[in-house]
Amino acid sequence: MDSVSDTPAHPFARASRLDAIEVSEILEIGARAARMNAQGANVITLGAGEPDFDTPDHVKAAAKAAIDRSETGYTALHGTPELKRAVGDKFARDNGLEYAPEEIAVGAGAKQLLHNALVSTLEPGDEVIVPTPYWTSYTDIVRIAGGTPVFVSCPMETGFRLTADALRGALTERTRWIILNSPSNPSGAAYGSGDYRPILDVLLESPRVGILADDIYEHIVYDGFEFVTPAQVEPRLRERTLTVNGVSKAYAMTGWRIGYAGGPAELIRSMAVVQSQSTSCPSSISQAAALAALDGPQDVLRERRAVFRERRDLVVGRLDAMPGIECPEPRGAFYAFASCGGLRGAHTPQAERIDSDGDFCRYLLEHAEVAVVPGRAFGLSPFFRISYAASREALTRALDRIEAAVNALH
Ligand SMILES: Cc1ncc(COP(=O)(O)O)c(C=O)c1O
Repeated sequence: MDSVSDTPAHPFARASRLDAIEVSEILEIGARAARMNAQGANVITLGAGEPDFDTPDHVKAAAKAAIDRSETGYTALHGTPELKRAVGDKFARDNGLEYAPEEIAVGAGAKQLLHNALVSTLEPGDEVIVPTPYWTSYTDIVRIAGGTPVFVSCPMETGFRLTADALRGALTERTRWIILNSPSNPSGAAYGSGDYRPILDVLLESPRVGILADDIYEHIVYDGFEFVTPAQVEPRLRERTLTVNGVSKAYAMTGWRIGYAGGPAELIRSMAVVQSQSTSCPSSISQAAALAALDGPQDVLRERRAVFRERRDLVVGRLDAMPGIECPEPRGAFYAFASCGGLRGAHTPQAERIDSDGDFCRYLLEHAEVAVVPGRAFGLSPFFRISYAASREALTRALDRIEAAVNALH
């Protein structure tokens, strides 16, 4: 038995692998805005990572029909045969990728699949390369899985995209995975095949490294940008790539919790071990809904993309015109990631000094009643992220408030 001093002080002391994980700053800001509103404020929250549209009617109808047919029991662990067939068809149709049923996993959201993949493969101390800025869950899942995130800065000057040189500098003997997210949350950066090529060339030379491609924003791209995914651009990497996607963002189905992935059968089997001891299968009703979304009419994607594009133009145009703020144009997703570096050293009317993106976002929340997320939550300062998954009217009001707040700085 361990000596007494090795045993935790309290039966529910947190496991040390959770040490570096904090409650997400995004959630904290949301909670703070809600508290302010409960006390009579009128905060506009532009922090959400979900479309403000509704799930399409034919998808809802399919879920209701599944209930009426009593499809309410457990399903196969990685999804019903019908849904796996639809996922396979989707990968073939949109991405030119052929996956057999044993190469497909369906889980409770893309997040669960990322979790399953990392938990089932990482040994303590294994490294995972995370291009930065990153979606905060990546680093936390890596840590929960016992791995070590390795941050590679992707500055505004490179379009927030990873370069081959930066990747080379981050690879070590212990690198097990790299996470590529295009279009990106939070930056909206996206990789065309020419952008991917030099990175995938480096990865071809690194046979021990797996590629986690998070394509969840695939359908939200603008200006004729042609979406591609790593396994499609470099078929020789297919056997080392897990291509992750889901219905949350494309079909406004965040609450249904369905994500899917295609990858080598051996990895899919390892992921099944983790899923079998957490949620078993994804919800049977949600699977029926996802089947309808993937098999049904796809016009909704085009219509919603057009709405997002108009909002992007509004938000980026107005932010970029404000003094001290620089907002590059995102290629995809529904976030603007703007620099507030030009405001460093400015003072608020309350004589508080703005020294960081955190200071700026606090000022916007407290004095302009607009909640946005500082770049540091995504690993890169001095930036802030605005989600434009909100009505044009709400966005316009928020931008008016931000503009007035910026103009009040001196
Ligand atoms: C980059 C990225 N990947 C994955 C997800 C999670 O998607 P899901 O709802 O399928 O778990 C999100 C949600 O915010 C995201 O931003």
